[in-house]
Amino acid sequence: MDSSLRQRRRTTRIALPTAVLLLVGGTVTIQSVGTAAAAETTLRAAAANAGLFFGVAASPNRLTSLVGQEFSQLTPENDMKPDRIATSSGGLQNTGGADTLVNHAQSNNMLVRGHTLVWHSQAGALQGASQATLNTFIGNAINRWGSRIAYWDVVNEALEDNNTGRRRNQWPHTMNRDANGDGDFFDAGDTDVIRDSFIRAKQVVQAGGLTTKLCINDYDVEGLTVQGGTQNRKANALYDIVRTYRQYIDCVGFQAHFNDNPNSIITTDLQANIQRFADLGVEVHITELDIDDDLSNNDIGAGQAENYRKVVRACLNVARCTGITVWGIADSESWRSSERGLLFTGGSGNYQKKAAYHAVLDELNKGRDVSTDPTTPPGTPTTPPATPTTPPVSPTTPPTPTTGCSATVSLNSWTGGFVATVRVTAGSAPITGWNVRLTLPSGATVTNTWNANRSGTSGTVQFSNVSYNGSVNAGQTTEFGFQGTGTATGLTPVCTAS
Ligand code: XIL
Repeated sequence: MDSSLRQRRRTTRIALPTAVLLLVGGTVTIQSVGTAAAAETTLRAAAANAGLFFGVAASPNRLTSLVGQEFSQLTPENDMKPDRIATSSGGLQNTGGADTLVNHAQSNNMLVRGHTLVWHSQAGALQGASQATLNTFIGNAINRWGSRIAYWDVVNEALEDNNTGRRRNQWPHTMNRDANGDGDFFDAGDTDVIRDSFIRAKQVVQAGGLTTKLCINDYDVEGLTVQGGTQNRKANALYDIVRTYRQYIDCVGFQAHFNDNPNSIITTDLQANIQRFADLGVEVHITELDIDDDLSNNDIGAGQAENYRKVVRACLNVARCTGITVWGIADSESWRSSERGLLFTGGSGNYQKKAAYHAVLDELNKGRDVSTDPTTPPGTPTTPPATPTTPPVSPTTPPTPTTGCSATVSLNSWTGGFVATVRVTAGSAPITGWNVRLTLPSGATVTNTWNANRSGTSGTVQFSNVSYNGSVNAGQTTEFGFQGTGTATGLTPVCTAS
């Protein structure tokens, strides 16, 4: 099971000693006996040891027992798209398929990625809707499943094809207005469907006290470069969007539909690109992975397996790359079946593992190879952050004025691991430094931290500000995060200001 080994993985690659599970008075303890560990035999268990989830996209008719055995996260392949669930006024309909998937995930301890709220494609009755109607839909969809959805793709595929670095020119992007004509939609007077949709989504999450994280998702954004070494302008444009709207965006999805299109290949700078987004403080996910057999001369054996290794390794080597999702189970059931790009052959519940499956499992079992704890400051935006046209996100109940500081924590958990986001709010006076103390339940271990210095990894752990986030104005908030293995429920942070 996932839990048997999960406590011992650190962020550096180490040889695991063999673990012996002891049941002492109902408490599971782990003893190390010093020889090489048996590798995990499922993708989800191996991923959990390394501190990430391994997921799959599926429809209700694919929910065999394999799904919960191999995968710790589920994305509805089609059942949460607007053409399935949205009415023209932003209400909900036909949520049965989505409910089935969410329930299946919950009963198998899997995270859910909601997919997707604002998208030019598969828009159904929302096609052509105003921002106000989109906002209604965003509220209804987020509230329907609440914190049962760990991650929502709020905006999908906002950027144009062919490495132009521009926004799309189809609805909903036709609502965008570049008021001062400076070539972007980031200015206070501009209209930006990305910004306005994220602001709405953040308001809904905060008003409901939800733990749901809000993501932007796209394809052909995976490498720093594209074929031939040209800069990946689409990736750069996404980076500027995330940097500018960082206060509303929690996570970035790289779809990773790799194929022989010059902009869709696997480049050697994939890891570096994941890292630069991670350095903004967002989680990065590989969200829709499939790898065309064209990229391995039609070899779906060792050649394709090698490509899968590259992608999994790039994620593992960035601490804040917290999940990988494949876009389907078997080649025959894939949206691009002719590319034979997935981890299983067979179909209809009778699946055979491909070489790519074994390669992914093996790579996950090697664990992360992360040399530094990422406390690098988030990038400084070149463009000033936009002043939202809609009112700023604020909690429904204003915090009681206090001097000093207060802290709240939100958790995203999967079997064997978690990511915690901590918000530090200054009281009625400005502060110049802060310290947050919290006690982790036994068995939980912090593996990495961002935007804070940390002392300790288990039991009582202390976090203090880094150079760039110690000064917080009265009533204002700053955020830091940490990731760990084990279970971290019931955290009560205590904040002290200096
Ligand atoms: C695809 C599904 O896999 C297909 O079944 C459907 O016919 C079309 O959409 N990017 C996305 C996904 O964000 O939603 C798409 O899924 C694949 C590309």
